[in-house]
Amino acid sequence: MSIKVLPPHIANQIAAGELVYRPSSVVKEIIENSLDAGATKIIIQIYRGGTKCIRIRDNGSGIAKDELTIALQRYSTSKITNMKDIENITSMGFRGEALNSVSSVSRLTLTSRTTSQNEAWQVYSEGSEFAVTLKPVSHPVGTTIEVLDLFYNMPVRRKFMQNERIEFTYIDEIIRRIALTRCDVTFILQHNGQIVRQYLAISHQSQHQRRMIKLCGTAFIENSLEIDWQHSNIAIKGWITNTTDKNIHMQYIYVNNRILFYHQLINNAILQAYQEKFTSTQHLNFVLFLEINPNQIDINIHPNKNQILFYPRRLIHDFIYQAVVIALQNKNLPLREKIKNINTRPAAGENYFSNPDNKNHNLSNKSTIIPQASQKEQRSILEQQLHLRNCITLVEENKSGNVCNTKIKVPTTIAKPDIISSTNYSFGRILTLIAPCYLLIESNKNNLALLSLSVTNKCLIEYKLKTGIIDDTLRSQPLFLPLSINLCNEEIKLLKYYQLVLKKIGILLEIDHNKAILKAIPLLLKKHFQKMFPKLLVYLRKKKVTVKHQQIIIWIVKNLPNESVVWSYYQAIQLLADIELLWPQWIKNTLYQIRFPLNFEPIIQAINKQINNE
Ligand SMILES: Nc1ncnc2c1ncn2[C@@H]1O[C@H](COP(=O)(O)OP(=O)(O)O)[C@@H](O)[C@H]1O
Ligand SMILES: [Mg+2]
Repeated sequence: MSIKVLPPHIANQIAAGELVYRPSSVVKEIIENSLDAGATKIIIQIYRGGTKCIRIRDNGSGIAKDELTIALQRYSTSKITNMKDIENITSMGFRGEALNSVSSVSRLTLTSRTTSQNEAWQVYSEGSEFAVTLKPVSHPVGTTIEVLDLFYNMPVRRKFMQNERIEFTYIDEIIRRIALTRCDVTFILQHNGQIVRQYLAISHQSQHQRRMIKLCGTAFIENSLEIDWQHSNIAIKGWITNTTDKNIHMQYIYVNNRILFYHQLINNAILQAYQEKFTSTQHLNFVLFLEINPNQIDINIHPNKNQILFYPRRLIHDFIYQAVVIALQNKNLPLREKIKNINTRPAAGENYFSNPDNKNHNLSNKSTIIPQASQKEQRSILEQQLHLRNCITLVEENKSGNVCNTKIKVPTTIAKPDIISSTNYSFGRILTLIAPCYLLIESNKNNLALLSLSVTNKCLIEYKLKTGIIDDTLRSQPLFLPLSINLCNEEIKLLKYYQLVLKKIGILLEIDHNKAILKAIPLLLKKHFQKMFPKLLVYLRKKKVTVKHQQIIIWIVKNLPNESVVWSYYQAIQLLADIELLWPQWIKNTLYQIRFPLNFEPIIQAINKQINNE
């Protein structure tokens, strides 16, 4: 046979085989793109183990209309411009191959909107023809990638896929791995319309440990040895445990937040350090985060970027070996001994308001090598702040430097998968926005109704407050200048009585003689608090019996002034889409309160009358 250059679509398909070998590898590539685009919320919808559909939506920076088609082309990237850039790469992607590869072996739709665009655009590309169509659509700022019928044009590869349940397990696992390193991002995973996992973004260091427990399981955390070591510009943090428990099998290594599936050098270093510490029936489990100057590694080894070369190899090996040996020599007690108290919290999540001291820590795990001293300082500040309820308390050292042994209470429920059942409830089809805050909706039965967005929003706030779901507007924020309010004796008495209940809602008040000093409050209430507060006291005083925390929430939400905001179409879509996805049950229970059916009969009669009279 004579030598011929393969047509681009066949070349692309062959190349795609290296990067996209199963649905989970598609999910990984797309999520990494979302993270590179600065997304803080990523919703992953999987149908039939990803063989039928993978849909991933993010709230990242989006792709400009003019660049949508280019993004699908091979070797097109916004992350590097020359080889030098690779030496200092901090983004997950840079080879410009993923979207092209995925679109070569599936029916791919890419929808995106940037903040500077008024509308979103969608490109659709199907397999070998690469015929791309571009059209305007409605979509909030961010990107949605939909991958249908993966490997429909590669029957051999399709045959090698496992059953849908197993493929979904791989997807679940890859998301777990990514969620471990990006605690600042919310990940929501659905399978066949059901929410299966919800890893909410955390904003406080104390919740970091909690997310670790949720992701790695209680058994792992209970017995693990904590590693925290730094030398020059390399740092390593994480947990290692030797166990006989065959159910725990975790060897996770991250280098600058990048997942490595296996690394001989790192594994050898850990094994050597542990050499005499474990028996033949035990095996090692670890979750380790290595931070290193990007120019000491080469990640351009394989298209999936999960393999790394270190320079100089010996130094990295010795560094890891030393980190583990030192942790063992220092007789660092298993983490369980350091954990003083962990309170179990309801499945919906901790009521963040119960920790009014919470500050907005930036936990984004951007690779930063911190000088040792400042890292220590930071840790001690954090440790002081960790004296909060519902948090894992760190090591308490007595004067002689010994670690105090304290009993632990690890919630046994936490490691279980948090499967949330959901049924599909929908608001209906949005027909148009009627300013300032109404949506014209068509229900499934073709009935028309108006939906008040401000009422919907208020109901949602009430729901979040009651269930302890916290977002930026509901999180208790400390006031730089505490607000002092003069009160009479009776009011002071009343306030003392309700002080703890208000604290639960994030309103932190201190009482000083005849004054109440407001120290922290949710952002949402900040603007209205001064006006609302006297009314709240009147409400509490009038009640003959103790008012419960839930009732106070209802009162507050009811008395929140109706802000005369003009809703944009996109804000409306975002609000409704979020509710449909995250709280479908809420729609079922609340829709009747917020939806006002339209009856056109009298109007039609009036029109007919007028026509007949003419
Ligand atoms: N979710 C997303 N948000 C914003 N931009 C994206 C997203 N996904 C892909 N892109 C853009 O498309 C380009 C191509 O993506 P990809 O093929 O994965 O290559 P790479 O990530 O290696 O650059 C990216 O460089 C980026 O500019
Ligand atoms: Mg990419």
